Amino acid sequence: MSRAVNRSASAKTVSIDKDLRQVDFSCAGNPRRRPLNMDAPVMDALSQIPDVADPLALFRTWFDQAEAREPDLHNAMSLATATAEGRPSVRLVLLKDFSSQGFVFYTNTESRKGTEIAANPAAAVCFHWKSLRRQVRIEGDLVPVTAAEADAYWATRPRESQLAAWASAQSRPMPSRALLQTRVAECEARFAGKPVPRPDQWTGYCLVPRNIEFWHDVRNRLHDRLIFRRIGDDWHSERLYP
Ligand SMILES: Cc1cc2nc3c(=O)[nH]c(=O)nc-3n(C[C@H](O)[C@H](O)[C@H](O)COP(=O)(O)O)c2cc1C
Repeated sequence: MSRAVNRSASAKTVSIDKDLRQVDFSCAGNPRRRPLNMDAPVMDALSQIPDVADPLALFRTWFDQAEAREPDLHNAMSLATATAEGRPSVRLVLLKDFSSQGFVFYTNTESRKGTEIAANPAAAVCFHWKSLRRQVRIEGDLVPVTAAEADAYWATRPRESQLAAWASAQSRPMPSRALLQTRVAECEARFAGKPVPRPDQWTGYCLVPRNIEFWHDVRNRLHDRLIFRRIGDDWHSERLYP
């Protein structure tokens, strides 16, 4: 069976079954190819990510700059988890808090990721801030936040989101969207006139970092990489070849 992939506005169509080595993936001549954003802070070969002692302070600086520069969702991060056997899966989640303790997101503990985290707490996240030409990778173990922390964040959520958290059996098969709407309506009726409590299976996880790596685009693919590794209570940093 052949599937067609439309790669450009000029409707150049290729068959996946054909030899893809013949296809030009360089985007040269692609009318939709956007020129490099010359506004973006590409570093030149002699500049580098500053030598700092505290990766959290550097993360704070980059995160604040991303908030100012990125058009949307600067706090979106890819979260990789894995089964007990080490089979990985990845998805986006939103970073909701961070401190020297770690990086916090919220989800459903009965979801696919929640099941994997219960079996294997090792995880990694990755931010890509396109407008800044930067990437940050963080690896470590996930620990659940306290009930008090989860309650405090839950209280800031819009009521509609709270009801959706009750109505959604995240990651499990859903027979129809109509059933999801029915479940939302049931939750609205159940909690009418009173605050929506936090479901037990909805909480946060904190990624306690072992490694934090900062990457910045440098001209000619000579990118700068600075990795911090936690040893005891201290952070040790070194640069990596791009
Ligand atoms: C930009 C973006 C942000 C998201 N943020 C979250 C989040 O904070 N928590 C969450 O549970 N799912 C979030 N999702 C949905 C997840 O990517 C994913 O579909 C869902 O959590 C189920 O994943 P799982 O089946 O691997 O557990 C987000 C999706 C996108 C595209």
